[in-house]
Amino acid sequence: MCGIIGYIGHKQAYDILLEGLKRLEYRGYDSAGIAVQDSKSHKIELNKAVGHVEKLKKKELKGTIGLGHTRWATHGKPTLENAHPHLDCSGDIAVVHNGIIENFLEIKDSLKNHKFVSDTDSEVVAHLIEKNYSGDLRQAVIDSINELYGTYALCVMHKDHDEIVVARNGSPIVIGIGDNENLVASDVSALVEHTKRVIYLDDLEIAVLKKDSVEIFDKNGKRIDKKETVIDWDLTHAEKAGYKHFMLKEINEQPDVIRNTLNVELPEIKKDYKNIFIAACGTAWHAGLVGKYIIEKQARIPVHAETASEFRYSNPIIGKDDLFIAISQSGETADTLAALRLAKENGAKTLGIINVMNSTIARECDDVIYTRAGIEIGVASTKAYTSQLIVLYMLAEQLSGESIEGLENVASNVQEVLEKNHISDVAKKYFRVYNFLFIGRNLNFPTALEGALKLKEISYIHAEGYAAGEMKHGPIALVTDQVPTVAIAPKDSVYSKMVSNMQEIKARNGRIIAVATEGDKQITQYADDVLYIPNVNELLTPLLTVIPLQLLAYKIAEMRDCDVDKPRNLAKSVTVE
Ligand code: AGP
Repeated sequence: MCGIIGYIGHKQAYDILLEGLKRLEYRGYDSAGIAVQDSKSHKIELNKAVGHVEKLKKKELKGTIGLGHTRWATHGKPTLENAHPHLDCSGDIAVVHNGIIENFLEIKDSLKNHKFVSDTDSEVVAHLIEKNYSGDLRQAVIDSINELYGTYALCVMHKDHDEIVVARNGSPIVIGIGDNENLVASDVSALVEHTKRVIYLDDLEIAVLKKDSVEIFDKNGKRIDKKETVIDWDLTHAEKAGYKHFMLKEINEQPDVIRNTLNVELPEIKKDYKNIFIAACGTAWHAGLVGKYIIEKQARIPVHAETASEFRYSNPIIGKDDLFIAISQSGETADTLAALRLAKENGAKTLGIINVMNSTIARECDDVIYTRAGIEIGVASTKAYTSQLIVLYMLAEQLSGESIEGLENVASNVQEVLEKNHISDVAKKYFRVYNFLFIGRNLNFPTALEGALKLKEISYIHAEGYAAGEMKHGPIALVTDQVPTVAIAPKDSVYSKMVSNMQEIKARNGRIIAVATEGDKQITQYADDVLYIPNVNELLTPLLTVIPLQLLAYKIAEMRDCDVDKPRNLAKSVTVE
């Protein structure tokens, strides 16, 4: 998943592109590059760097038309040669690309007389456009994308044209309409300081940006009209506001996010669906798993919560009597989008639980419920997760016709956990270990998965989440005094079973961090450390038990000097499969 940006207007492009790339860096940060069309020579000048955007030294590229790119490597290591923008043989054409070109090797073979300098699929596009170019850049791009198979958000410029040509299929791209200037980027965070007027491109659409005009075409070159959207947030939402990391800010925003999401108006959902399918990835899938327990307990409708990457290839038994729910913070995750499209092909009604307004998944669902989490910058998802859970609780209330006791107060309960935690003392004892186990049961089995994911993705400690009842079927072989276990054991209907699990671990010298209910003194007999949550309705415990685990992961990662907001190998939005 990469970040791309383009600028054409009356100002110098370089600094605008550099700032924009910094706002897009959460999408990928292996390497970065900027190309500017020099206003005098009209030559295309390049500046590239391996690593974060800040490595792009302030090089004075002069020009008012330019492209920028920050990369998450799919084909080829993070090197200068593989960094975008890519040029054609003549150096007259520059391209930035987000996505995967599936047939790039065949195309590369067909361009034998071209000189390639990188291992990437993206460079092939520059040479394909060169082959198809005969004076009309837009037409050359249209002819080229009709030869491409795969996903792309493309921005193309040519030294002899005062325009940027944009094309999209499967990867997000949005155009910013300015005053005597126009921009294009992977998402609105890179546009909002210049304009709030945006146009979202859809698949197989092409745009031609000049400094005073934007024209949009379909894949056959026919002019089409697209409506403008005015975005409703500003840059302050995308700042750290005094916190050391975005992740810590976002963890602490959760009480407000929960209150805001509780005010969301839900669409009327039919109550007689035969099945509900939930497909999502990573943290969003964990939310879906909690949703399964909640909706089945409350509404007694069968719920199947699957990873989207499995659902899309499983030939699922889903049809017109079923509801399909896509959960996604970014609304751009390729596997979730593909699962949604498969569900629609099978006739299911589709509903999105999405955080980013007007994202691709949001626009392709029959109905969408926007979580009110605000922009989430930290790669490790936190406030988006709890806001997804809130929507699922509200759906369970609507489908069952019964309210869930305590839901309206849960934001204050979360606030209490945030204020009362002693996470640093606990993290200090465990930040040097190499392996962690997380165990939970029933509603908190997904919490165990989520706690393990948070820890592994930002601290790089190997962590496994397990259904506690499964421990004796293998994982307990891992238990030693060097492999601590987080046991999620609130006072609920499976508490005594969790206590048994903890005793089995203690019998093997395993150290335990328990997440427990305030006032539970018994738990201290089995746990070396206890992180308490308030005593709430059992159904609501997943909203609270996850908070200490988010904080634990954050603190341990910080103590290990990890890049908390931009962990290695990851990106915020996984728009490739
Ligand atoms: C969560 O901390 C991870 N960053 C990742 O698993 C994420 O939840 C997953 O990629 C799904 O993203 P989405 O919600 O934007 O679809």
